Amino acid sequence: MSKKQPITLNINNRDHKIEVEPRKTLVDAIRDDCGQTGTHIGCEHGICGACTVLVDGEPVRSCLMFAVQADGKTIRTVEGLANGDELHPMQKAFMDHHGLQCGFCTPGFLMLAVGVLEREPDISDEDLLDVLSSNLCRCTGYQNIIKAVRAAAAEMRGPR
Ligand code: FES
Ligand code: FES
Repeated sequence: MSKKQPITLNINNRDHKIEVEPRKTLVDAIRDDCGQTGTHIGCEHGICGACTVLVDGEPVRSCLMFAVQADGKTIRTVEGLANGDELHPMQKAFMDHHGLQCGFCTPGFLMLAVGVLEREPDISDEDLLDVLSSNLCRCTGYQNIIKAVRAAAAEMRGPR
């Protein structure tokens, strides 16, 4: 077993000072060491996107990143989307448009969509669909996820 390294993960504006082996993935550290279990683990090799979080604002598959690589970076997870009792527009849109069934893929889709729309609010519909095609859902058939993200995108852009 290799020696543990001290790192600080800033998750949703809170510092978590933890010690991890260099081989530990970011998603395992987020869940096991920081107690934030909203981020899900599906395939564990970069295919499904269930583990997507934002690292310094960029959507990242946290099963493909080592926790030590995120030392000192700003991480956002699904737990940080709502503002108290007020859901983020993306969360609300997923509820309103039935964009989830079992919910396993949902945290990853939420973080992917929020990350992309915050960076590129005027993204074309074609590019948005291309982005969403990178995550997998076994339940919904995708149409309601797409409807939800389109609706949230319009709300996040606001009146023009
Ligand atoms: S668990 Fe990370 S991409 Fe599937
Ligand atoms: S809602 Fe079940 S996997 Fe997407």
